[in-house]
Amino acid sequence: MGGRERFGNRAAVIMAMAGSAIGLGNIWRFPFIVGQNGGAAFILIYILCCFLLSLPILFSESVIGRRTSRNTVGAMEALAPGTSWKWLGLLTVISPIIILSYYSVVGGWSVEYLYKSLTIQFHPDNVEAVTGMFGIFTASGFKVIACLLLFLGITAGIVFAGVKKGIERFSKITIPVLFVLIVVIAIYSMTLPGAGEGLKYLVHPDFSKLTPDAFAAALGQSFFSLSLGVGTMLTYSSYVRKDENLVVSGAGTAVSDLLFAILAGFAIMPAVFASGIAPSAGPGLVFETLPYIFAKMGTGGVVISAVVAILFFITILVAALTSSISMMEVGVAYLSEERGLSRAAATAGIFLFALAVGIMCALKGSVFDFLDKLCSNFLLTLGALLFSLFVGWKMEKEDVKDELTNGGTLHTNAKLFPIIYFLIKYVAPVSIAVIFISGLLG
Ligand code: TRP
Repeated sequence: MGGRERFGNRAAVIMAMAGSAIGLGNIWRFPFIVGQNGGAAFILIYILCCFLLSLPILFSESVIGRRTSRNTVGAMEALAPGTSWKWLGLLTVISPIIILSYYSVVGGWSVEYLYKSLTIQFHPDNVEAVTGMFGIFTASGFKVIACLLLFLGITAGIVFAGVKKGIERFSKITIPVLFVLIVVIAIYSMTLPGAGEGLKYLVHPDFSKLTPDAFAAALGQSFFSLSLGVGTMLTYSSYVRKDENLVVSGAGTAVSDLLFAILAGFAIMPAVFASGIAPSAGPGLVFETLPYIFAKMGTGGVVISAVVAILFFITILVAALTSSISMMEVGVAYLSEERGLSRAAATAGIFLFALAVGIMCALKGSVFDFLDKLCSNFLLTLGALLFSLFVGWKMEKEDVKDELTNGGTLHTNAKLFPIIYFLIKYVAPVSIAVIFISGLLG
């Protein structure tokens, strides 16, 4: 596949992968799940999950992607021709497009909320009206669809521009900026009066809340956050150069994602507690509670609260975009490489499909919830399990080693290989299967 694009260097690889990983999952899901499941105790489990289970899955996807330099379907065909593994390839083309559809609805909400913050609608004179704004906005089908269209349009524009000129360039510029923004917001949030309770919520370890459900929550969150199980990382890895160190770029990605999630927790929870509100999950937290807090903070200075609100919604929007482009790229790579479509046609096709499904999600909360549950509770875990089984049991051990050590030239990786391989072959699939099945039963 001569004409295929490749990411420029290691920084580009890590920025693109971290871009995919860092998204709405880090900002609105992680902080809440932490508090719900025992604060610091959960963070410990989450970190373990990240390195013992998620990272091996990331390595598995990386090995498949880079070894074949193909899209998910092409990769399965190259490594296991004529077998039913091609269904794994197809599954992992379809699931990211479904995720893209409902994810973009939320991306659209953040477009609207950036607009609201730019026009200073979260004003102290408005405090009571602010929480109601979300309901009013989402009830207006037209506005929600217009925002969805805009968000998907920007996503498609970046993807269409190409792997290097679009995805790489966008991620390289925005990811460092996102880190700066979230640190600034976290510092501000932690200096608010009453922020201490929020800190306690995050760092006070409550081991009694570490139920089996907490393990399932940690696993699901960690897969979603690292964009695993649906071929996103496989596809990005297929653009990684042969001389790049997959272990280093994978670990860099995982650490960036983890760090960002923790920073987001410190940006959001102290502010929530400072305002005396109980934290809620999902949309409520980011699109109702926080705007209310911004408006209330305005009594202490309208300018500063407006600036923080703007920075915050820029952060959400950009983080969502660096993720949505990664979901779209999976399908675009498949359609252009396996189905002979031009990049423009492939991008347009996925755009239209995601728009149609997205509109259904935007109009019907039940469709949104169903697709989210289907993907994040089921398809993602299934995909992750199958990827680890594929690399651990179907591929030749020597080939896996070859890919992770660049033909034996990376000596540290060669020393680490037995551990990594053990995690891929036994630890990851067994733990995922146990948690998955107990989740299905319970
Ligand atoms: N990881 C992103 C987030 O935390 C979302 C995401 C991007 C994703 N690509 C994915 C989730 C693929 C699951 C699968 O917001």
